[in-house]
Amino acid sequence: SPGWPGLIEAYRSRLPVSDTTPVVTLQEGATPLVPARELSRRTGCEVYLKVEGANPTGSFKDRGMTMAITKALEEGAQAVICASTGNTSASAAAYAARAGMTCAVLVPQGKIAMGKLAQALVHGAKLLQVDGNFDDCLALASKLAIDYPVSLVNSVNQFRIEGQKTASFEIVDVLGDAPDVHCLPVGNAGNITAYWQGYREYAADGTASRTPRMFGFQAAGAAPIVNGQVVENPSTIATAIRIGNPASWTKALAARDESGGRIDAVTDRAILSAYRLLARSEAVFVEPASAASVAGLLQVADAGELEPGQRIVCTVTGNGLKDPEWAISGAPAPVTVAVDAAAAAAQLGL
Ligand code: F0G
Repeated sequence: SPGWPGLIEAYRSRLPVSDTTPVVTLQEGATPLVPARELSRRTGCEVYLKVEGANPTGSFKDRGMTMAITKALEEGAQAVICASTGNTSASAAAYAARAGMTCAVLVPQGKIAMGKLAQALVHGAKLLQVDGNFDDCLALASKLAIDYPVSLVNSVNQFRIEGQKTASFEIVDVLGDAPDVHCLPVGNAGNITAYWQGYREYAADGTASRTPRMFGFQAAGAAPIVNGQVVENPSTIATAIRIGNPASWTKALAARDESGGRIDAVTDRAILSAYRLLARSEAVFVEPASAASVAGLLQVADAGELEPGQRIVCTVTGNGLKDPEWAISGAPAPVTVAVDAAAAAAQLGL
């Protein structure tokens, strides 16, 4: 088919596929790398946004899911399962539908955004709300995958990481080299692991001259890696990263330490402030969890710990339309007017 073929075809030689692998794709990847003028001004750096909400189901999960579902199909699986704070379930449901597979999803009851729930349901997933948090859902999904004929497609599945590492490839391909710093939100810590793997692979074969420092940011009420201990009852408005015991904890620490980076906490207030700044000043509508990368960047800059002049990429992981609640609650209620130009003009202050 014409145009961008999806990330497996685009990076075939760097992924664990063969000529006979039955590729399942929605032509994910090739997402925009948008220069961020206001963030660049505020930090004195050259800041870009990797807009992962532009993927087919509206999040970076599609990069991992094209690989995970492709490999599950290749291995003859008929059903897949995942635990999710919402985006993984939306993506798994879509790619499983594309592959003609059954998809089961376990989500924390009452703690996933409406848009994500809608996506899982419309693509035909079998969805259970679990009376517990994400960590409970993941433990349950992992157990089911051991005891029943169903493949786990959470990021503990290495094929997910393989797919997600391609975001780093795209960034280097566009910028001509790795950035100085890469910022991203951290939840279960699969994505920071994947980016770090991608950057390392490009540096190892000379496609990039270096690797960036990896800056990860957790929500303050769900910051086990920052605190150095499991959070039993994680709490944040950024439901996508409401995780108290990340599966890839050790790998996130390795990404931080090997890259000379940092993993810090950002408050919900800072996340919402970055969320509004992104929408108003950069015109990029993201979901709250995605704004953690930008909140973190601004926090480091405000602390005077960011050397000016650096090239920085912030991944914004998910589309704002998935979780519009915070966009609406933070804005004045719309006024209703008659079909009357003078009345409309008066209300608009024209
Ligand atoms: N941003 C968004 C929008 C997410 O949905 C997630 C994770 C993250 C960031 C964090 O990425 O887990 O690789 O560190 N969402 C998972 C899910 C947990 O179930 O959709 P991570």
